[in-house]
Amino acid sequence: MTIRDNCSLAGRNTFGMDVRADSLIDWASTDELKKALQDIVKPVLMIGGGSNLLFMGDFKGTVLHSTITSIDIIGSTDDRVYVKVGAGVVWDDFVAWCTINGFWGVENLSAIPGEAGASAVQNIGAYGVEAKDVIDTVQTICLADGTERDFSNSECNYAYRQSIFKNELKGQYAVAYVIYALSKMPQPKLGYGALEQEVERLGGPTLANIRQAVISIRNSKLPDPKVLGNAGSFFMNPVVTEQEFDIIRSNYPDVPSYPAPGGIKVPAGWLIEKTGWKGRSLGLAAVYDKQALVLVNKGGATGADVKRLADTIIADVKQKFGVTLSTEVNYI
Ligand code: EPU
Repeated sequence: MTIRDNCSLAGRNTFGMDVRADSLIDWASTDELKKALQDIVKPVLMIGGGSNLLFMGDFKGTVLHSTITSIDIIGSTDDRVYVKVGAGVVWDDFVAWCTINGFWGVENLSAIPGEAGASAVQNIGAYGVEAKDVIDTVQTICLADGTERDFSNSECNYAYRQSIFKNELKGQYAVAYVIYALSKMPQPKLGYGALEQEVERLGGPTLANIRQAVISIRNSKLPDPKVLGNAGSFFMNPVVTEQEFDIIRSNYPDVPSYPAPGGIKVPAGWLIEKTGWKGRSLGLAAVYDKQALVLVNKGGATGADVKRLADTIIADVKQKFGVTLSTEVNYI
């Protein structure tokens, strides 16, 4: 276990915000976390790769980060394999490992920034696949009393970018391991947009080709946080009612949409682009020019700068379309 006091978090969040925490604890095992919890200074913030956070200032409390980086096969049947992944495993290292080992299920989630523990909290998703489609069990530690608790997939209350760990039990359980149930049989999911075309261009639906295709598509649209601070999609795609959708479509017949539980999903990137914000800046924060869903730190922006831009966009989208955008990024 490593404990650092008055520690910079600049390298711990992909927006690159240069803020500090009173204390930062990197825990490498469940025993270490249990020990740390005995006299921890509150409030407590759990982070993974810091790819979904926007720090509004210094964190007056303890930041907990797992450095459990094991990947173990813990069970298998004729067609499935169960893989226990440490919360601190870099997500894309796990996807690469699955690709090499011939395990299907997470290849469409290639190159998503962040760590495996957070994948189960955020229910990360891309190209028609969500983490919840392949999560079997989430193994956690209760921060209040240090007890271990396993959550089955259905107990996690998964929905689009949502889980029990972001809602009902927010801040109460630290993820230690995620058990992923993967397929030994090919199960390509190529239904999303340009993916199939790119996979064909690379020579057909092998695991390696799908991974490569996803990486190329992402790289063409999304900024590298090492170069330009950002947290991927800043907003979630809103789900609107049929009535709201009809109003939008009557003015914009080309509006993209997808069926979703409870209504119709409209891409927030499209809504933002139509307000004219794509590629524009407000101070040191900007809307990425290739994907309007992504807000970037042009260098030296504070959390307040990014929030000011986000709030302005939310107001403009509301005024133009009557739709209220919610952030995917968590303000801290
Ligand atoms: N669009 C625009 N303008 C834009 C961006 C998008 O018109 O600036 C339109 C596109 O033309 C397309 C539609 O919106 O018709 C969807 O765009 P895209 O395929 O790029 O996906 P998205 O809905 O904008 C979501 C996820 C991404 C994920 C992609 C691919 C959310 C909030 N975002 O974006 O996730 O990579 O689908 O599956 O659901 C992330 O969460 O950080 C992330 C990048």
